[in-house]
Amino acid sequence: MGEKVRFGVIGAGGIAFRKTIPAMLRARNLRVVAVMDTANVEKVAEAFRIRRAYTTAEDLLADPEVDAVYIASPVHCHLEQIELAAAARKHILCEKPLTLDVAQTRRAIDVCRRKKVFLQEGYMMKFHGAHQVIRENISQGRLGKVVYLRAQLSCWYPPIPGAWRQDPKTGGGGALIDMATHLLNLLEFFVGPIRRLAALTGNLVHPYRSEDASTILAEFRSGAHATIDCFWCIPDEASRTRLEIYGSAGAIFTEGTIGQSVGGTMEGIFGLGSAEYDAAQNKDVVRKFRPIPFKKINPYQAECEYFAQCILDGRPPEINGPVEALRMARLVEAAYRSAKEKVFVPV
Ligand SMILES: NC(=O)c1ccc[n+]([C@@H]2O[C@H](COP(=O)([O-])OP(=O)(O)OC[C@H]3O[C@@H](n4cnc5c(N)ncnc54)[C@H](O)[C@@H]3O)[C@@H](O)[C@H]2O)c1
Repeated sequence: MGEKVRFGVIGAGGIAFRKTIPAMLRARNLRVVAVMDTANVEKVAEAFRIRRAYTTAEDLLADPEVDAVYIASPVHCHLEQIELAAAARKHILCEKPLTLDVAQTRRAIDVCRRKKVFLQEGYMMKFHGAHQVIRENISQGRLGKVVYLRAQLSCWYPPIPGAWRQDPKTGGGGALIDMATHLLNLLEFFVGPIRRLAALTGNLVHPYRSEDASTILAEFRSGAHATIDCFWCIPDEASRTRLEIYGSAGAIFTEGTIGQSVGGTMEGIFGLGSAEYDAAQNKDVVRKFRPIPFKKINPYQAECEYFAQCILDGRPPEINGPVEALRMARLVEAAYRSAKEKVFVPV
C-alpha cells in the first residue's frame, strides 16, 4: 500500500454522495478509486471524476486497486457486504448502524477478525469540533460533576413507498436505531458507559412499520442522567437539534452541532457551584453564557482520515471499532426490549 489508502465506496448515492465522498476527496491520507451502486452509479462517478464505477459489490471487491471500502448502502445490505469485503481482505468503514441486530453484529465482527481486516462504524459526530471541546471540558472538570445531558435529533420523515428505513426488516427499526444511536454514541463519548436505560417508542403520526418516535431515559455508570429524544414526526423547521449538558459547576449548550454539519453554535458557563443557596430562586436572571469557540472540523473527513491512518499504521481502530460496534448493538437491543416490556434494562 502507498502513502494513501485507496477506497472503494459501496452504496454511493445517499449520504455517501451528499457528505462522505466529498469529504473523502479532501482527505490527506486516502483516495477514492471506485464507486459501486445498484442505481445511477455512472452519474456518481462522473460527478466526482472517479474512474471506475461498478454495479455489483463483487466486481468492486475484485478490483486489486481497492485497499478498503466505505459501505453506505441500506442497513439490511451491510452484513452480506461486510462478509464479502472481509473475504476479499478489504478493510471496512461501514455506516451506522453496523447491522440490523446484535447477532448480525457479532457475525460482522467475527468475520473481520478471522480475515484480519479492520472494521470501523460510521458514528462521525464525536469527530465534530464542538464535541471534541465538550469532551475536553468535561474531562478537565470544568462542569464539575456532570449530572444531566439532553440530546435531540428529529426530522420530518413522511411515508415514502419502498423506503428501507420505514420497515424494521430493512432498517432494523425506526427513529431509535437510525438517529438515537448517534446520540447514545456521542453521550457515552462524553461521560462514559450507560448503566441502564428505558425507552418509549411509538408511531405518533406516520403509519409505517418503523417507529416515528423514540425517547430514551438513561443512567450512566457515573451516575449522570440523560434524555435522548428523536422523532421522525417533527417538522425540520421546528427541530433545533439541541445538546444540553449540566454539571455541578456549569453548563454547555449547543445548537446545530448534532447532525451532519461542520458548524453550529456552542455556549457555556463555568466556575459556578460555590454560591450560597438563594431562597428567592429568581429564574428571571440575565444568563451569563459565553460563546465557546471550536475548530470547524468536517466530521466525515475526520472519521475517514482516522480510519485510513489506522490502516497505514497497522493499528486497529479504537474509536468506533468492533468493541464499540457491539456495544451500540447491545444498547439498541436493550432500548427496544425496554420499549416492548415497559421496564428499565441494564446494559
Ligand atoms: N452518518 C451519517 O450522518 C448518516 C446519514 C445518513 C445515513 N447514514 C447511514 O448510511 C447508510 C445509507 O443511508 P442513506 O441515507 O445514504 O440511504 P439512501 O437510501 O439515501 O442511499 C443508499 C444508497 O445505496 C444504494 N443501494 C441500494 N441497495 C444497494 C446494494 N445492495 N448495494 C449497494 N448499494 C445499494 C442506493 O441505490 C442508494 O444510492 C445507512 O446505514 C444509514 O444509516 C449515515
